[in-house]
Amino acid sequence: MARRAGRARRLRRGGGEHPVLLQTTKQAPEGGGERLRLAVSERLQSDLELAHRVVNYNDESVVIESVYSMGEGAAPIEDLVRTAKKHGALVFVDEAHSFGFYGPRGAGLCAERGVTDQVDFIMTTLSKALGSLGGVVAAREEHVALIKSSARAYIFQATVSPADIAAALAALRRLSTDEALRERLWDTTRYMRQRFTDAGYDLGTGDGPIVTPHFSDKDKLYAICHGLFERGVQTAAVTYPIVETGRGRLRFICSASHTREDVDRTLEALIDTERAVDAERETEAERRAAGEEASGAHPGRSGVEEWARAFADHLQETLAREDGPAPDLVVSFGLPDGGEPVRIGVRGRAVELGAAEPADAPSCSLVLTDRRAASALCSSDVQGLLDGVLRGTCELQGQVEPFIWLVGRLVEWQRGVAA
Ligand SMILES: Cc1ncc(COP(=O)(O)O)c(C=O)c1O
Repeated sequence: MARRAGRARRLRRGGGEHPVLLQTTKQAPEGGGERLRLAVSERLQSDLELAHRVVNYNDESVVIESVYSMGEGAAPIEDLVRTAKKHGALVFVDEAHSFGFYGPRGAGLCAERGVTDQVDFIMTTLSKALGSLGGVVAAREEHVALIKSSARAYIFQATVSPADIAAALAALRRLSTDEALRERLWDTTRYMRQRFTDAGYDLGTGDGPIVTPHFSDKDKLYAICHGLFERGVQTAAVTYPIVETGRGRLRFICSASHTREDVDRTLEALIDTERAVDAERETEAERRAAGEEASGAHPGRSGVEEWARAFADHLQETLAREDGPAPDLVVSFGLPDGGEPVRIGVRGRAVELGAAEPADAPSCSLVLTDRRAASALCSSDVQGLLDGVLRGTCELQGQVEPFIWLVGRLVEWQRGVAA
C-alpha cells in the first residue's frame, strides 16, 4: 500500500472554513502492507487531531480514493473509515478504480470491506468500468443538497446526454448480473501481474487490473511507450507530478475482453522494446561521449559571442524580410564565469547585440552552467538546450514568452540551415 491521508486543508464554505483531508501518495515503507496500514491510520488520526486543535472545527471531511491506480492498489479503507468516524468526520470515497470489479456484483471496495453504511459519499465515474460518460455520487438524502450546492461541476457543466446514460445503464445491468465478465477480468489480471513480475518488472504493491511497471528514467519510459505503440501496444507513460519523481510508470489497463494471449504479446513487446531502447541509448551515450571528446572544451564566452553574432544576423535578415508584427524583447545568455551576460535585444524590428539590461521589455535569461548546455546553444541544438533545462544546467530565468520565441526562432534557423 502506498497512500496516506495528506495535510488538513481549509476550504471556505458559506463564510466558514471546513477542513478537508486529502490523500496523497507516498512510497511504501520497507516491511510492506501492514506497517503502512498502521502508518496511514495513525497519520490520518494525527491530521484529524491537528484539525480539531489548530483549526478548531469539528466538521472535517476525509476524502480518499478506494483504489489508487498508479501501482499502489486498495486503500486500508476499514482503518481509514474507522479513524475518520472516531473523530466525527464526513467520509467521501472515490471508487473510480474499484467500481464494477471489486465487491459483490462489482459494487466497489466499500461494499467488499463492509463499510458502505459508514461512508457518507460514495462516488464513481461512469467512464471507466461502465465505458460511458459522467459520474454519480451516492449519499444520504440530507447530504445530497450539500453536494448539489457545493460541487462546481454539477452547477457549471452540461448534463450527461440521454445516450450516455442509456449506455451506462446497459453496462451497469450487465456488470451487476454477469459474474463471468468479472471472473475473466480478475483471471487475466492475476495472470498479467504474475507474468510481468516473473519477468522482473516492479509493479508496485497493487493488485488491480491497472498494471503499472515502474521505470525510474523518464526518457527511457517515453521511448518504451513509443516503441510499444510501434509494436501495436497502446499504453501511457505516467511521470512526475502525477507520481513521485524518479518513479514513472507505464500504465496497462486490463479489461474483460483481453485474453492471456494478449498479455503474452504485450509482455513480449515490452521486453523487446526495452531491449531495443537500452541498446539505442547505449549507442547514443557512446556517440555523445565520443563527440564530446572530439569537440573538446567548453565553447566559452568567445564561442557564445560568436554564436550570438550569427544568430543576431539571422534575426535581422528575417525581420527585414517579413511583414507583420515584430516582438519587443531581450534574451540573455549567462556563463558561469560571472561576467556580463551576452544579450540580444529586438526592438522596433532592429536587432541589437549587447543590448542593455531590459527595463521594461519582456525578457528571459539562460544561464549555461556546463559545457553540454553551452555547446547545445552554440550549435542551436534546441533539444540539447531543453535537456539542459531539465537537467538544471541551462537555468531559465525571467518570462516564458521570450523563451518560447527564442525556441521558435532557433528551430526556424536550424531548418533554414538544414534546407
Ligand atoms: C480517481 C478518479 N476519480 C474520478 C475520475 C473521473 O473520471 P471521468 O472524468 O472520466 O469521469 C478519474 C479519472 O481518471 C479518476 O482517476
